[in-house]
Amino acid sequence: MALAPAAGAHGPTGLGVTGRRDLWWASPLATFIVYAGFIVYGTWSALHPSGYAVEPYLSPFFSPHFKPAWLPAWFSPAFFVLWAPLGFRFTCYYYRKSYYRSFMADPPACAVEEHRSRRYRGETRFPWLLQNAHRFFAFAATLVLLVLWYDVVVAFRFPAPDGGHRFGVGAGTVVMFVNCVMLSGYTFGCHSLRHLVGGGVDCFSCARAGRLRYGLWSVATRFNERHMQWAWISLFTVALTDVYIRLVAAGTLPDARLF
Ligand code: FES
Repeated sequence: MALAPAAGAHGPTGLGVTGRRDLWWASPLATFIVYAGFIVYGTWSALHPSGYAVEPYLSPFFSPHFKPAWLPAWFSPAFFVLWAPLGFRFTCYYYRKSYYRSFMADPPACAVEEHRSRRYRGETRFPWLLQNAHRFFAFAATLVLLVLWYDVVVAFRFPAPDGGHRFGVGAGTVVMFVNCVMLSGYTFGCHSLRHLVGGGVDCFSCARAGRLRYGLWSVATRFNERHMQWAWISLFTVALTDVYIRLVAAGTLPDARLF
């Protein structure tokens, strides 16, 4: 980090004032653009409750799929689902850091001045207090992830000419599989889940089910070490999986049959 003489105590103050001479704004700007793009695309997809499935594929935005007959046509089944993964990401420790910087400039970056709030309360008051619900979103998102893995299994069953199903592997199967791997890497590296399996003990060998807990904690730790990378990659894969299935469903893109 290249630094000029410090601003602040004896120099200019205010939002964005810094002694940094590197492109510190590039990362929050790129983050803003990508997140905003994801929000726009995800909203568009959720509000278009058609063309999100083509046998044997189902978009992750609409899974678990729940569309009872009484549901009005305008009501998207995505609304039954998306609150869990979106709440999970919105309250994620990594995402908080990145969108506090990129959307609220609070702070804009390390060693860059932020708003001067008279009463900084952190996340101790409403609405930011709700960030503490992350552990509950983690449980819900883990259940959704299990259903997405079930969808991957279903994606190996292709309709046959006799009306039954045959085992097969399509490009969509691979796309859905890769997406679930990435989502698993992100989910299992969650700080809350890591604490759930390995926190609250001073000594694994003394704790009940200590070996199992240590094993789970070790796995969670491996994923946790790259939590930011998993967060970014899985954000792209989940959106691209939806795009791919929509293109195949629309007939715009042929689904290559690999096996
Ligand atoms: Fe990022 Fe839980 S801390 S998903």
